[in-house]
Amino acid sequence: MAFPTHRPRRLRKTAALRSFVRETHVAPSDFVYPIFVSETLTARRPIGTMPGVFQITVDEAVAEAKELRSLGIGAMILFGLPKTKDAQGSGACDPNGPVARAVSAIKDAVPEIVLITDVCVDEYTDHGHCGILRPVRGRPGELEVDNDATLEVLARSALVHAKAGADVVAPSDMMDGRVGAIRAILDGEGFEDIPILSYAVKYASAFYGPFREAADCAPKFGDRAGYQMDPGNAREAMREAQLDVDEGADMLMVKPALPYLDVVRRVRDAFDLPLGAYNVSGEYSMIKAAAAAGMIDEKRAVLELLTSIRRAGADFILTYHAKDAAKWLNG
Ligand code: PBG
Repeated sequence: MAFPTHRPRRLRKTAALRSFVRETHVAPSDFVYPIFVSETLTARRPIGTMPGVFQITVDEAVAEAKELRSLGIGAMILFGLPKTKDAQGSGACDPNGPVARAVSAIKDAVPEIVLITDVCVDEYTDHGHCGILRPVRGRPGELEVDNDATLEVLARSALVHAKAGADVVAPSDMMDGRVGAIRAILDGEGFEDIPILSYAVKYASAFYGPFREAADCAPKFGDRAGYQMDPGNAREAMREAQLDVDEGADMLMVKPALPYLDVVRRVRDAFDLPLGAYNVSGEYSMIKAAAAAGMIDEKRAVLELLTSIRRAGADFILTYHAKDAAKWLNG
């Protein structure tokens, strides 16, 4: 019955036809480019595990924003590398810290780009965990992340970012209740119009490895499995997303992207908020390493994987490939 009436190859005959019937499109305006702003550097420093990515100075952040804008990239997300760290991650709340300074400089110079700030304490704690520590009950000498004590620091950090001029704040810590805590402080201080992009579904992933060099935030002991999600869990992802929606999240994110495209699709189908996926550092480094070794065609691989993330249901993609991909897409 179906053959020869139906010949799907008819629509694959020419590049023009293929492009005309393509279901999923990727555009530079879908991209969010992550930057690492250092308070101590005087010139950019390459990140060894992420070829093409740099830690940059506050001044260079403005130039970076201009370049992103000229490429048509929709947004950037800022991570900070402070001068000093302590157990409480106090640097995360410093109004003169690298993120706050870069945000206000960019806001003045390039007001058209969407400025997102990553809200977390791991770049600011000397132990590298995404929260404040406390002794574990009944286990002398052991420490664990204190969820509720961390909420207060996260909320104050988000407020500092909003005051500096951030358009969106994005908590990445995975503490329970952080979206509600951040919403409450922002509303209380007159920032009821600042949206929260929640890293709602964030897995404890090996693919964050290179980022921990980039942001100098590897935990000094243990791992993040006590707060980030277990890779086997997808139903739990729905609960995490629902909690954040209930607490007032304006946008959701799934992270990493490629190993969790099924989760991106489930979240897409269940929630109608804008949805992002974070194509994380390890996903980037694998492509760069394979391309450098001549094992794959970087351009084709990157455009294919970005398309796959959009096809799974993400509206926007946080990706270190953003600038290269924008150049390729802009022809
Ligand atoms: C935590 C944070 C991490 C990433 C973004 N925010 C690291 C982690 O959870 O260990 C990872 C991003 C990437 O790998 O590209 N502040």
